[in-house]
Amino acid sequence: MEQRYQRVASLAEVPEGELRAFDLALGRVAVVHVEQEIFALADECPHDLGSLSEGELDANEDAVVCPGDGSAFDLHTGEPLDGPAVDPVTVFAVRVHDEWIEIGPPADVPV
Ligand code: FES
Repeated sequence: MEQRYQRVASLAEVPEGELRAFDLALGRVAVVHVEQEIFALADECPHDLGSLSEGELDANEDAVVCPGDGSAFDLHTGEPLDGPAVDPVTVFAVRVHDEWIEIGPPADVPV
């Protein structure tokens, strides 16, 4: 079955190294642009509902750090790498078409 993707923003709206939040039908999503890769995560920290889009990237730029209590979540899997959070954050499938960022369903993450 063809998965449905929703166009959310142009690439220019999420500059390299930046995080932005977008309100979609599936909820508020934090979109992250790192080294020409785009990631999309639920914009709600599972620890205490911090807004991940208001956080920042960690030093290696492979995780987002929650502004609430500092939990770090892997951009690829959503798994907590550090901090008080124990549950993962949902990661969504993302693709870029003609300079547009499109977000799909929650990504299947191998356990
Ligand atoms: S709200 Fe994100 S670590 Fe507490």
